[in-house]
Amino acid sequence: MSSHILRQRLRSGLIALAGVLAVAGSPPVSASGAEAGFQQYANNDVANVASLQRGARNFVNYCQGCHSAKYVRYNQLARDLGMTEEQVIGNLMFSAARPTETMDIAMRPADAERWFGIAPPDLSLLARSKGPDYIYNFLRSFYVDPARPTGVNNIMLPNTAMPHVLWELQGMQAGKFEEEKHDGVTHLVFREFTEVSPGKLKPEAYDEFVRDTVNFLDYIAEPMKLKRQSLGILVIGFLLVFGVFAYLLKQEIWKDVR
Ligand code: HEC
Repeated sequence: MSSHILRQRLRSGLIALAGVLAVAGSPPVSASGAEAGFQQYANNDVANVASLQRGARNFVNYCQGCHSAKYVRYNQLARDLGMTEEQVIGNLMFSAARPTETMDIAMRPADAERWFGIAPPDLSLLARSKGPDYIYNFLRSFYVDPARPTGVNNIMLPNTAMPHVLWELQGMQAGKFEEEKHDGVTHLVFREFTEVSPGKLKPEAYDEFVRDTVNFLDYIAEPMKLKRQSLGILVIGFLLVFGVFAYLLKQEIWKDVR
């Protein structure tokens, strides 16, 4: 993150803080999306392999131009997503030569920072740090804002450097904000989105598209999740059975003492 952007973020953070602290005088205005009603659970399911396959396709086509997933190997995808290596090579591998390579990108972080102001983060672990619900809502909350260099802003990540890369699919939406007064301080509160231009996908289909993509990001953030859960059930089962035998053994040992 360049120091310029850091300073800008710091400044807007301070302004928001000042807005909360101020009590009288000309009331400052701060935007907030906390109460926004559009926020929903991703409801994705990492056990749904068909959804993971669609998500992987979405990721390589729409995200990997800017974002790497450098902890993920293509041949591991093949194994976990029930695909042959040929299928992975033909459908997912556009930026690598061998299936043993990781999902890296050619863009250098220094260039990325020059172009976007902030280098697009590696997405391998993002679903773990921010949660699938956050990413789901992030990708659904871009709205038109002519004041931004990308022409869009975002409710979840205000003043984000990421362009609305899925605008062709979702279409463009405007954000409706209303002023609300709390203790003499005026806040700009997000109310709802209104359609500016329709996209190629209907709203429900767009949500599905985003859910599959988030599902894939959730899976790569913790490929062991599925195995860990089934292993957990086995371990609990073992402990239960073992507990019965331990109890019987205790009865046997103590029967002469009593
Ligand atoms: C044109 C380049 C570009 C493409 C394509 C792109 N992104 Fe981004 N993305 C960025 C940049 C730049 C940032 C850093 C934004 C910031 O911190 O303000 C970012 C940040 C993010 C973040 C982090 C948000 C946060 O809160 O820190 C997520 C999640 C994300 N992108 C997901 C995606 C997904 C999923 C796709 C594919 C559907 C995608 N991006 C496609 C440029 C891109």
